[in-house]
Amino acid sequence: MEFSTQSTAAYHQIKTPALAVGVFADGELSAPADVIDRASDNRVKDTVKQDFKGKAGDVLVLRHLPGVRAERVVLVGLGKQADYNAKAFQKAEMAFARQCVALGLTQATTALTAVPCPEVHATLLGRLSAQAAHHVSYHYDQTMGKPDPKQRPKLKKYTALTERASNQAIQQGLAQGDALGQGMALTRTLGNLPGNVCTPTYLGNQAKALGRQFKSIKVSVLEKKQIEALGMGSFLSVAKGSHEAPRFIVMHYKGKSPAKPQGRSAAKTATKSHTQDNGPIVLVGKGITFDTGGISIKPAAAMDEMKFDMCGAATVFGTLHAMATLQWEGELIGLVPTCENMPSGTATKPGDVVKSMSGQTIEVLNTDAEGRLILCDALTYAERYKPSAVIDIATLTGACIVALGSVNSGLFSPDDELAEDLLASAKRALDPAWRLPVEDDYQEFLKSNFADMANIGNNGPKAGATTAACFLARFATAYRWAHLDIAGTSWLGGAQKGASGRPVPLLVDYLLGQKR
Ligand code: BES
Ligand code: MN
Ligand code: ZN
Repeated sequence: MEFSTQSTAAYHQIKTPALAVGVFADGELSAPADVIDRASDNRVKDTVKQDFKGKAGDVLVLRHLPGVRAERVVLVGLGKQADYNAKAFQKAEMAFARQCVALGLTQATTALTAVPCPEVHATLLGRLSAQAAHHVSYHYDQTMGKPDPKQRPKLKKYTALTERASNQAIQQGLAQGDALGQGMALTRTLGNLPGNVCTPTYLGNQAKALGRQFKSIKVSVLEKKQIEALGMGSFLSVAKGSHEAPRFIVMHYKGKSPAKPQGRSAAKTATKSHTQDNGPIVLVGKGITFDTGGISIKPAAAMDEMKFDMCGAATVFGTLHAMATLQWEGELIGLVPTCENMPSGTATKPGDVVKSMSGQTIEVLNTDAEGRLILCDALTYAERYKPSAVIDIATLTGACIVALGSVNSGLFSPDDELAEDLLASAKRALDPAWRLPVEDDYQEFLKSNFADMANIGNNGPKAGATTAACFLARFATAYRWAHLDIAGTSWLGGAQKGASGRPVPLLVDYLLGQKR
């Protein structure tokens, strides 16, 4: 998709198949809508009076307005003017882009980006705008018998109109949203692919492909022998029941850092304590390509959804893709332990004790609590990078879904500053997260009489998302660490069943804030 900006005040002279102009719920017209109204002899006001309520996300298509060069003017509701914010803007952009896709248009122009949004930087408007165009253009047909090219969205050119002053910021935001949208599409496709296609081997090959696509990403894919040599006994105990071979994927992105004027970078390090430590940021993604539960097998109903159990890994892929596209100036490492969790004669049994790479032993009381078993060894592996921060992303617990539903991702971190930074990014990127506790008072529930710890809490279903985080915390003591539980947010159920692409927007926003 191609994104561009154009700065104008003569909205009626824009030649385009579809032009979006915003209308507030109280009937107030945005400036672009007002220009169109005056050029078309009050056709907008007439329509708004009779047929348009202006609720955020409402759309109404008006064809061939007199005095207007656009083929279609699309009235887009912005909601109440007093409540206008980034979320209403996003809703409006999504609704417009969706309408354009439904009409089969190849080009569209938005004037919603020319409406000032209180407390929202123009860069973010651009980002959300391009992100919306990508989001509605996503189409999965990889495993259809006869993929129908006619069903593929055709939107190829998207133009954002701006005031002259914010033109550059919007342009920069469009580039961010373009990269983010492509990254999210990759995340969604990997999540949507079935378990018999998207295997650990497939993810390893996908990583190698990323390495070929971007010179800035160096990839190594470790196979079973190498994983054994590292001593990842916990990870391997999960892989043991499956015929699919495990992989440990390492993706190392390094952006070019052009020589910057001294003064500016010095000022930056002074304000943010963690950028003094200039180690890389490490993302760790749970890559269970199918989770049957193992010997502690899951019930049959909806078990197919466990193909989404590699959405953490898919998030790491999508985020790296986005940052490499943007040629981000930082250093970023993606680690993905990936395998299947299957029951079989060779599978780990409840009560088995396994030894992690850290040397700590684990009594596997429930083989369905496998995510933490593969992540803990990756967290130990991450130490070698002397990272400035490590963030793991995992569809880790049903308990997190019980706590937060599919609105917020669960955020866990003993580090207040890191947690605050991630929460701020979650808010800004409209990819919400909610902080839950990971405190020593919960550690006692992981006591085992036969190993250094058990892999599930002995407090029943209570605080299940937290006991999982507490387990991980025991392996993440050498650096600043946060854990995102995305069991409820990384995929949608029901009619819109499929991967959501979250929390790529949160992570990309966070990374962009670390180095510019
Ligand atoms: N992959 C699941 C968590 C999950 C459940 C993700 C539902 C998405 C939707 C994870 O491996 C798991 O099975 N967790 C168990 C842990 C329990 C055995 C302590 C759970 O949440 O039930
Ligand atoms: Mn499980
Ligand atoms: Zn799982």
